[in-house]
Amino acid sequence: DSSSTITVFDKEYPRDDYTNVTPSILARTQRRLHLNPAHPLGILTHIIYDHFPHFKRHDALSPVVSTHANFDSLLFPPDHPGRSRHDAYYVNRTTMLRSHTSAHEVEVMRDHGHRAFFVAADVYRRDEIDATHYPVFHQIEGVRTFSPTELSDGTLTREIAEMQAFIDRTGITRTSEEPAVRDNPPRLQPEHHSARAADVALVLEHLKTSLNYWVAAIFSRIAHPSSSSSSSSSSASTTAVAPEPIEVRWIEGSFPHTTPSFEIEIKYQGQWLEVCGCGIIQQAMLKAGGISDHIGWAVGFGLERLAMVLFNIPDIRLFWSEDPRFLDQFQPGRINRFVPYSKYPPCLKDISFWLPEPTHPTATTTDPDATAVAGTEFHENDFMELVREIAQDLVEDVKLVDSFKHPKTGRMSHCYRIVYRSMDRSVTNEEINVIQEEVRTRVANQLGLALR
Ligand code: PHE
Repeated sequence: DSSSTITVFDKEYPRDDYTNVTPSILARTQRRLHLNPAHPLGILTHIIYDHFPHFKRHDALSPVVSTHANFDSLLFPPDHPGRSRHDAYYVNRTTMLRSHTSAHEVEVMRDHGHRAFFVAADVYRRDEIDATHYPVFHQIEGVRTFSPTELSDGTLTREIAEMQAFIDRTGITRTSEEPAVRDNPPRLQPEHHSARAADVALVLEHLKTSLNYWVAAIFSRIAHPSSSSSSSSSSASTTAVAPEPIEVRWIEGSFPHTTPSFEIEIKYQGQWLEVCGCGIIQQAMLKAGGISDHIGWAVGFGLERLAMVLFNIPDIRLFWSEDPRFLDQFQPGRINRFVPYSKYPPCLKDISFWLPEPTHPTATTTDPDATAVAGTEFHENDFMELVREIAQDLVEDVKLVDSFKHPKTGRMSHCYRIVYRSMDRSVTNEEINVIQEEVRTRVANQLGLALR
C-alpha cells in the first residue's frame, strides 16, 4: 500500500517504518468473541466475572493503544524484545494494537479510579502458525489494590478465609510451589521498604488464594455426563465435584511491571498448562495510577489455551468459526466437550528459499547478536504474516522442515511445509495452487528472498 496514512477505526494515522498492521488483522478487531456469553471464550470470561462480582469490568476498550501504554507505562526498558516490530503489530511508531491487557492497567486505575477490576480483551501478537498459535487471542487482566486502611482492618484475611472456604468445599485445587518460590520470602521493591514486609506477604497470600479460587470456580463448572444441571448461578457450582483435584503450580516469573512475579500452571489430564502471569504491582505504576500508598496484585490469564483443553477444541482457528456446527454446541455458564465434526483433507505445499547473504564479516565484532543479525535479515514472523495474509484461515500449520548451508557459499536455505486446510469444507488443489503461487511471488518480491 503506497498511501501515506492508514485508517483504523475511522481515524487516520501517518504511516512510518514501523507500520505493519494488515487488513485481515484489523478485521479481527470487530469480532469481540469474549463478549458472546455462548462462545467458549465468553463462557470462561463470564464464569470469572460471576465469581468476582465486586470487580469492575472493562471489556470494550479499544485495541488501538499508545506504545507508551503498552510498554512504557509498564516499565518495559527501551530494548525489551517484546517491543520488536517482528513480534508486535504497529499502526506506526507510537501507536499499536495492544499485545496484552496489561496495557490498560494504569489507565483504569488513574482515569476510572478502580481498585478491583477486570479487563477482558482481544490482544495481538505476530507469531508462528500452528494449531495453538493465532495472531489474535484473548486475555483477562485482573487487578486488585489495597489502601492502607484495608491493609490494616482485616479486609484481606476475611476475604482469604471466604475464598478458601469455597476452595475447600469444591476440593478442586491443590497448590504446589517450586522450592525457589516456597522457601523465599517475597522480594521487596525499594519503595516497599516503607511498607511493612508483612503487608506485602499478605497481599501475595491474597493473590494466591484468589487464583486458586478462580481455578476452583472454572473447574467446578465442567459439565459431567452424570449431572444434567447446567445452572449458571454460582451457588449451584459449589456442589459440583471435579473428577480429580487440580494441581496448581507456582513458578518464579519475570515481568517488568511486577515484583515478585510468577507464572502459574495447572495440571489437567496429565498435562501442565501455562495459564497466567501475575505478581505484585510495581509501586511506580501505582504512583502513576494515583494510589502510591496502595499495595496490589495483577494477573493476566490467557483464555484460548485453557479453553482448548477444557472444551476439547483441537484447533485455535475454531474460535473464529461462524459455522453453526461449532457455535451451537455451547451454552452460557457451561463447560462441555466439543464434538469435532469431520476434518476435511489437508493440502500440503513446500516452499524453499535462500536466506539473505551475510552482509559483512562478523569475526571482529563484539556484539553477541551480530552474527545472527548480519547473517539473516530474515525474520520468520514476517514470512508467517505473509502466509496468513494471503491464505487467511485456510492455513493450519507452517513448519521449517529442512535447512542447510551451501558448502561453498555458506548461504543458508530454508524449506517450509505449509499445511492448508479449511475448517468447514474441502479445498481443491487448484485453489491452493493459486494461493501458493501468490505466496511464492510475494516471498520473492516483498521479502526479497531468492526462491529455489
Ligand atoms: N501481561 C503479561 C503477559 O501478557 C501477563 C501478566 C499480567 C503478568 C499481569 C503479570 C501481571 O505476558
